Amino acid sequence: MKTFHHVRSLQAELATARSRGKRIGLVPTMGNLHAAHIALVNIAQAHCDVVVTSIFVNRLQFGLNEDWDCYPRTFEQDCQKLQDANCDMVFHPEEVEIYPNGMDQQTRVVVPSMADVLCGASRPGHFEGVTTVVSKLFNIVQPELAVFGVKDYQQLAIIRRMVEDLHLPVRVISGEVVREEDGLAMSSRNSFITPEERPRACELYRALGWVREEIVQGNTDFTALQGAAKARIREAGFRPDYVSICNSTTLQLAAVDDRQITVLGAMYTGAARLIDNLSLQR
Ligand code: PAF
Repeated sequence: MKTFHHVRSLQAELATARSRGKRIGLVPTMGNLHAAHIALVNIAQAHCDVVVTSIFVNRLQFGLNEDWDCYPRTFEQDCQKLQDANCDMVFHPEEVEIYPNGMDQQTRVVVPSMADVLCGASRPGHFEGVTTVVSKLFNIVQPELAVFGVKDYQQLAIIRRMVEDLHLPVRVISGEVVREEDGLAMSSRNSFITPEERPRACELYRALGWVREEIVQGNTDFTALQGAAKARIREAGFRPDYVSICNSTTLQLAAVDDRQITVLGAMYTGAARLIDNLSLQR
């Protein structure tokens, strides 16, 4: 596996691969890789000849009071995992490489309407940071396809919308949520869950599963379902941020006759903010 820290050297290598007719796939990550990331690499490998995994903890998508400084950075272990998975290239740039003119006056990419709801409501500017850095990564790597996890459902929907709106020549593919045995969605932030909290941390998943089942059984009182799910999370000892029953494409609150619905939720443990989602078709 080749490691690149600079845009130029990565692009030179990719130009050679492209001239040999190789199809290039990108898996953007912030590192601290676990099984769910490796599953995304495997999906990219199934479609492409050369897979680039980027590892960059993007400060632009973190709020001032968020966990950018303590976000787990485990580059050596990440490289070992990528090597074991036969990933071809890892791109691990310094901040100045991605933001050569600094961040304050950085040109931004914004997907209005979808970026200010759900996680965007409690993390203002977060998705602007995500779409800006993902656009940069798309421009740097120029992949045929890029793979993102369904665990970050809102992020995936926003990136799909950005690609559509800007006619970006990249296919976005998704990888299913990978879960621990009790249902907790795998996430780098799970390392912030304490041993005491851990047995209860799957309550977010359980509450969303209960809402999904109620809708499947014909319950259309979405407001009551959202409230009851939040109460379950509170009873488990956590602070719910939101539980929302949404149209799977627009992420607006679902209408009673919407056919494709996603139930999204977020909750706070003592030190982590966890998110999850479950979809259903009617
Ligand atoms: O999902 C993530 O890890 C990040 O939001 C991403 C897509 C790599 C952008 O920094």
